[in-house]
Amino acid sequence: MGDQFVEKVVAGLQKRLRPDQVSVHPAERLVYGYDATWAEGLPDVVVHAESTADVAWVLRIANEMEVPVIPRGGGTGLAGGAVPITGGICLNLARMNRILEIDPADGIAVVQPGVITNALQKAVEAHGLFYPPDPASLYMSTIGGNVATNAGGPRCLKYGVTRDYVLGLEVVIPGGEVLRLGGRVMKDVSGYDLKHLFIGSEGTLGVITEVTVRLLPRPPALGALAVAFDRLESACEAVVAILSSGILPLMAELMDQEVMRAVEAFHPYGLPVEAEALLLLAADGEEEAVRADLARMVHRVQAFGGRVVRIANDTKSAADLWEPRRQASPAIARLAPHKLSEDITVPRSRIPQMVRRIQQIARETRVPIVLYGHIGDGNLHPTLLCDRRNPEEMSRVAQAATQIFHAALELGGVLSGEHGIGMLKQDFTPQAFPPAIIEKFWAIKLLFDPKNIMNPGKKLPLPGSWI
Ligand code: LAC
Ligand code: ZN
Repeated sequence: MGDQFVEKVVAGLQKRLRPDQVSVHPAERLVYGYDATWAEGLPDVVVHAESTADVAWVLRIANEMEVPVIPRGGGTGLAGGAVPITGGICLNLARMNRILEIDPADGIAVVQPGVITNALQKAVEAHGLFYPPDPASLYMSTIGGNVATNAGGPRCLKYGVTRDYVLGLEVVIPGGEVLRLGGRVMKDVSGYDLKHLFIGSEGTLGVITEVTVRLLPRPPALGALAVAFDRLESACEAVVAILSSGILPLMAELMDQEVMRAVEAFHPYGLPVEAEALLLLAADGEEEAVRADLARMVHRVQAFGGRVVRIANDTKSAADLWEPRRQASPAIARLAPHKLSEDITVPRSRIPQMVRRIQQIARETRVPIVLYGHIGDGNLHPTLLCDRRNPEEMSRVAQAATQIFHAALELGGVLSGEHGIGMLKQDFTPQAFPPAIIEKFWAIKLLFDPKNIMNPGKKLPLPGSWI
């Protein structure tokens, strides 16, 4: 945007916002240009919203002046969703970080979007309650961002994803209208369920300004197992066998040998780095049930050659046992100048096939691909290691990523299970959806955002590009 236009936008914003909430400082613009990927952009203005009224004002001015608005939470996204590639206004929601209410009687919490995921979990645990979704970035990610991407995490195998916990949303749409969608009830078929359109919409429809989440009773006990396998394929087969034998683990997480080594180099946890794969399994519930589930899982994994290297029977040591898994993404980041984290999901019976395809793609394209992920959900994070300064290498990386997407789609899977499409996977959506569905996506987008100011250039393929 030209300087004079930016000045006008700032003047419009400052009619209702304090000067310290509206910044055009070059350093501040620079730091809001990134997320957790290699994508980069530069906002023209950074706005720090402190209330729904602030957000409404920003969306009124932005809509009138047709300025892109890129909402932002913790900036931990892995698809470039919060990167301001078009310039415009970076709308930072981190200051809206209050837990407004925890109500054990209704089993809900009402929070502002900037609340850190782990802060919500800790706060409800103090009431004996439980908020299950646990994205790996939970110490930094925000609830608003979790809802915007429909975030997942290890515990989603048993408990479901963020969507399954959102009962109500307050959102602001372009023009500044405030919509309250859903509420605090468990069941509701009284209208079209518009809140579900906003969950996972990656900031392309409006801005989430309040979230009502459902809470569960806190499970009394936790237990976990670490199991080493000499063959990666056996680990995959063991998971499919466990899941089809009437056991629903709290989580079933995989790390290949390279990931284990990276995590060990990051922090020595004592992982079995000589094995080809590590499976982390966990159970929660009543103490006796947890013990029984762990025993059944031990029995199953042993049938596939798994060696139990650790059993954690109490809550604290179980949590410690899966802590290394949380470090996978940052640890891998140290292996190469750049990494591309993929997020494909396949039906769980197809996991062994998908893993074989990934290994084959790595061999054929000569791109190092390390593998970890929420294997129990069929949600894998094959991570491509590369150096973006090397164009020859990057063309092989593009080829490998394309082949991974094709393989996932062929196996009945999807491009992204939890990170979203953002700006990094958009080109592949026309292969995942027929034109008639993409047209419906655009019709919904334009219903809420007729001038296409909300996070433009993200999530949806550009008009015309899919025909
Ligand atoms: C994880 C993130 C990358 O599972 O989704 O570690
Ligand atoms: Zn993940």
